[in-house]
Amino acid sequence: MKPKLIVHGGAWNIPDEQVAAHLNGIEHSITKTFEALEKGLSALDAVELAINHLELDPTYDAGKGAFLNKAGEIELDAIIMDGLSLNFGAVACVQNIFHPVSLARQVMDNTEHAFLAGKGAQQFAIDQGFEILDPKQLLTERELVFFDKIKEDPEFMTHHPFRDSPSDTVGAVAMDINGNLAVATSTGGTPRKLPGRVGDSPIIGAGAYADNSIGAASTTGWGESIMKVLLAKTVCDLFEHNSAGDAARIGIAKLQQKVGGLGGVIGINSNGEYAYAHNTPRMAFAYVTSSGQVISKIKITP
Ligand code: GLY
Repeated sequence: MKPKLIVHGGAWNIPDEQVAAHLNGIEHSITKTFEALEKGLSALDAVELAINHLELDPTYDAGKGAFLNKAGEIELDAIIMDGLSLNFGAVACVQNIFHPVSLARQVMDNTEHAFLAGKGAQQFAIDQGFEILDPKQLLTERELVFFDKIKEDPEFMTHHPFRDSPSDTVGAVAMDINGNLAVATSTGGTPRKLPGRVGDSPIIGAGAYADNSIGAASTTGWGESIMKVLLAKTVCDLFEHNSAGDAARIGIAKLQQKVGGLGGVIGINSNGEYAYAHNTPRMAFAYVTSSGQVISKIKITP
């Protein structure tokens, strides 16, 4: 069957001058990954590959270009999930690696566990032979300047970036030629977060969920709100009795109504239909149509 792929590059108030970079990054990721999916790459490998491209792109808050925490350091979170087996792997608060999503994949494939955090996740990266970077290799001038601006600002709050300013999480959902679904999400979390803070992205059901029988979804936005409504699992459950588009819209409406949350979601239901919705000012996302055309958008809240 025809494969499906949708990726996002964050839901926030993407400034006009960053629109082109956001579109270029997601278009590059989706084009490269879809070529491989068409040749038979599994959904699981495809979402890892799509995220790897985005983690190397300094435009996004994932891998290179991630936000700095209150200590001026980068801590990364990621998850990957297989819709066939419901296996998943996740990592939180890992440092100095380009690809936390691949570390999450190794947790899933090579341990008896599903989620490693902090020191143990870091040691696991070393044990798995991941390249351990100089911290400067993940750092961008943009984030240094932004951190200097907000680090002593008493008015700054975690959720402000999702209304007002710099960059966000990345995610990918794929259906392969065998009809299997997978999802992955990767992030640097929120700017000036407390060291050790974990958001929605690596939390199963919040940042990602995949089940071949219903669908798969990846979320982005203000993690403290998204976790409360387990947005990815909520949207997957909504796929059962709603169109794909309605499921995403109802999920985001719940996020807003129940907890005043801010965020976005992308997904694919078990019929291969795309879903996307957000209540932040903008969301960057791209998908491939059944005729193979890449559609990329910076969608503005309706
Ligand atoms: N959605 C990213 C985070 O809050 O960590």
